[in-house]
Amino acid sequence: MQQVRIGVVGAGVIGATHSAVLQQIAGSLPGQVELVAVADPNPAHLDFFKSVYGYKQTFASAPELLANADINAVFVCTPTCYHAEVVHAAAERRLSIFCEKPLAMDVAQAAAMVQATEQARVATQIGLVLRFSAVFTVLRDLLRDPRAGRPMAVVFRDDQVFPIRGVHDSAWRADRTQTAGGTLIEHGVHDLDLLTWLFGPVQRLRAWERNLAGHPGVEDYVAVELELAAGLRAQLVNVWHNMIQRPSNRRLEIFCDNAFLATEADMSGSITAQFGDGPEEVISESDVLRRFLASQSNAPHALHDVYGVAYLVQDLAFVQALLSGAPPAPSMRVGLDAQRLAAAVYHSARNNVEVEVGDLSSPATG
Ligand SMILES: NC(=O)c1ccc[n+]([C@@H]2O[C@H](COP(=O)([O-])OP(=O)(O)OC[C@H]3O[C@@H](n4cnc5c(N)ncnc54)[C@H](O)[C@@H]3O)[C@@H](O)[C@H]2O)c1
Repeated sequence: MQQVRIGVVGAGVIGATHSAVLQQIAGSLPGQVELVAVADPNPAHLDFFKSVYGYKQTFASAPELLANADINAVFVCTPTCYHAEVVHAAAERRLSIFCEKPLAMDVAQAAAMVQATEQARVATQIGLVLRFSAVFTVLRDLLRDPRAGRPMAVVFRDDQVFPIRGVHDSAWRADRTQTAGGTLIEHGVHDLDLLTWLFGPVQRLRAWERNLAGHPGVEDYVAVELELAAGLRAQLVNVWHNMIQRPSNRRLEIFCDNAFLATEADMSGSITAQFGDGPEEVISESDVLRRFLASQSNAPHALHDVYGVAYLVQDLAFVQALLSGAPPAPSMRVGLDAQRLAAAVYHSARNNVEVEVGDLSSPATG
């Protein structure tokens, strides 16, 4: 592909994040990236995207954009319930597809989307952005330090205000007909994917859930105990609380035979590290960022927005894969794996059973 010509479907929070970083990428790769068109039923959002990000064409719906815009790649940034129809239509048009997480409303829908894109031989990427986070990339490198020894135990907490007000002022997230579920699938899916990215496949799990806010089918607490094939155990807690002043936050603590690694940041921040009999040390945020960028062969030229670095590197990876003809990663198939893992968590919590996850191709339901 000589030029990536982009259409965005869904001009909300994440559509704006992608647009802001794609604008930077277009500036650093002149003539190779163009922000062409945007679709959204909300005219005010379209006006904003046109004036701020420079989209040339605006459409009131995805079908209109897909029928009329001169694009070869689409970013699917709608509420989760619309991902499938946009992905299927885009695959029919042979467009390259970046789809936001979670991939779909359930495993069957996600599997059909992956099958359609693979049959159409279109390039895909899923928005599992933590794989591009500076702190988690540097943590992953530290885990490979031979001094660390075997990973033994992980404690992972992820909390966020129930995302129907504040930054995520989106009523659809409390409506089970539009969201794939609650805190686990809509937010914790990042954490499930991160655990497999850091430590490999999950063998079995046991989970519990609660629904305190009372939105039907949209849980706000999930706890999971996971046993990974590599032998370690991980505990994950996802919470959607009601404190609007509290920013979304993750805390991850990892014990290996000879190492303790911890962070309270999920994009950019410091890491605490202790090896063997040595003292606990803090790797500062700027040092983490420096190490992260040094590890990226496609390091971005412009870094205007530190929070957005993960999104910048993520979208740059997609764009550069399309320009070079390499398959983007993580693909939508990785999104399907994460969706299956989340389904296994729900199955465990709802049926009060331990679930063998070894074979993710046998979908857990309900
Ligand atoms: N990777 C991440 O870090 C991340 C962060 C936030 C959201 N997300 C995911 O991105 C998706 C969108 O989330 P958001 O926070 O941007 O939501 P949002 O509510 O801020 O924006 C959604 C936008 O889609 C528009 N829309 C609704 N129906 C549409 C349709 N049929 N066609 C086109 N546009 C439509 C809405 O008008 C709105 O502008 C969700 O799947 C969410 O889980 C991912």
